[in-house]
Amino acid sequence: MALWGGRFESKTDDSVFALSRSVQFDWRLAPYDLVSSIAHVRVLKSGKLIDAKTAAKLDRALKELLKEVKSGVFKPNASDEDVHSALERGLIEKLGELGGSIRAGRSRNDQVATDFRLYLLDHMLEIALQVTKLSKAILAKSSEYVDAVAPGFTHLQHAQPVSFGHELAKHSCALERDLGRIKDWYERSNLSPLGAGALAGSSLPISPERTARDLGFDGVVRNSIDAVSDRDFAVEALFVLALIGVHVSRIGEEWTIWCTSEFGWAKLDDAYATGSSIMPQKKNPDVAELARGKSGPLIGNLTSLLTTMKAMPFAYNRDLQEDKEVVFNSIENLLTLLPALTGMVASTNFDRKRMAKSAPEGFSLATEIADYLVRKGIPFSKAHEAAGKCVKLAEKSGVQLHELSATQLKSAHEQLDEGVRKFLDVKGAIASRDSVNGTAPKSVARQIRALGDSLKRDAKWISNESKRFSGMMSQ
Ligand code: ARG
Repeated sequence: MALWGGRFESKTDDSVFALSRSVQFDWRLAPYDLVSSIAHVRVLKSGKLIDAKTAAKLDRALKELLKEVKSGVFKPNASDEDVHSALERGLIEKLGELGGSIRAGRSRNDQVATDFRLYLLDHMLEIALQVTKLSKAILAKSSEYVDAVAPGFTHLQHAQPVSFGHELAKHSCALERDLGRIKDWYERSNLSPLGAGALAGSSLPISPERTARDLGFDGVVRNSIDAVSDRDFAVEALFVLALIGVHVSRIGEEWTIWCTSEFGWAKLDDAYATGSSIMPQKKNPDVAELARGKSGPLIGNLTSLLTTMKAMPFAYNRDLQEDKEVVFNSIENLLTLLPALTGMVASTNFDRKRMAKSAPEGFSLATEIADYLVRKGIPFSKAHEAAGKCVKLAEKSGVQLHELSATQLKSAHEQLDEGVRKFLDVKGAIASRDSVNGTAPKSVARQIRALGDSLKRDAKWISNESKRFSGMMSQ
């Protein structure tokens, strides 16, 4: 159903209708459009723009429509342009001309900005919930492997041995920041554009503060021109989603490497692996690979909306319709990926023996020699050189550092005595790094506890905020 046409003499060309139509994707906004219409009816009534009887009829019909949209009984048809026109058709089908009275005091410009904010606020909470589940699974695995030892890497080369729990828990640190970003974003974005009308506000006695309150917003967007033109909330959400995408891509990359037969550290559960159509022996880490791959569209979607917004004139322009598909794509990609990734993490088993065997390889304990000399008062530059000599000697004689003879140690530095040997042991080296953020198992256990506490606080916040939407949707 067209929402305009009074001043036109000929009908829109089919190609133009096809180009401007958005209902095939913006139908996702239907429930949010209906709850904001329910709030709008209340202000129309309190402003005496409709009488109590009309308001009750509209309210009932909108609530019925909400149920029918949720159950799929009411759907858009081929002649509906966008979600707003489809729902107005639904209302008119129920109430006749009376259905059209809801349009007073608002425009599709403030309506779409409101619907889209509500959609995103609701869905970012869903994303946050999935992120907490992933982080919880990571922390459970970290606890399981706090005492397991593995080589830690820089430049993908053995660097220093670490607790494998420490290696895993670092991912939860990144996810903790992502949750913080969602919270910040939520607080900044939770303002209502409704009442801005086309761009200049409304002369009718409708109260934007009241609809804002009704819909659970913290307040009203201060400037009506900004209210209909601003898409910062969507750009910022896309950034947060892209960064989550980057974080999970790094998890995906690690898992993929750990599953290779060269590493052989990780063993995937059959439920979270896939086979090959030609090579019967294959067990592929597709979940991890998709976690890596999805960062592509997630970053692309952010770039896409930034580009759309660049140099956009004020206030509403139809270009703004391009804001939605990228957001839906990022949200839906992550909501599909995160549960699978969480399942993969929770069901992976790691080969402790294999990781432990490779932990001292690559002379990863060389820093311990330097630190030993530093503790004896040798300047680090000298200590570093001596440790380097030890590596050269070990490499030449084909032995590990702890297998160097007393004479060899002495030849590297005169103060390098037998005392160093107890540090040339992986477990000892790991246990000695017991600073708050260090890799010693007792430090790691403390880090895991703190991450778990912060996760609990985030989960509580998510559950409180989500009540707003479950309440609104079950009117
Ligand atoms: N489908 C449109 C969008 O998503 C709704 C707003 C249309 N406003 C207008 N002035 N044509 O942006």
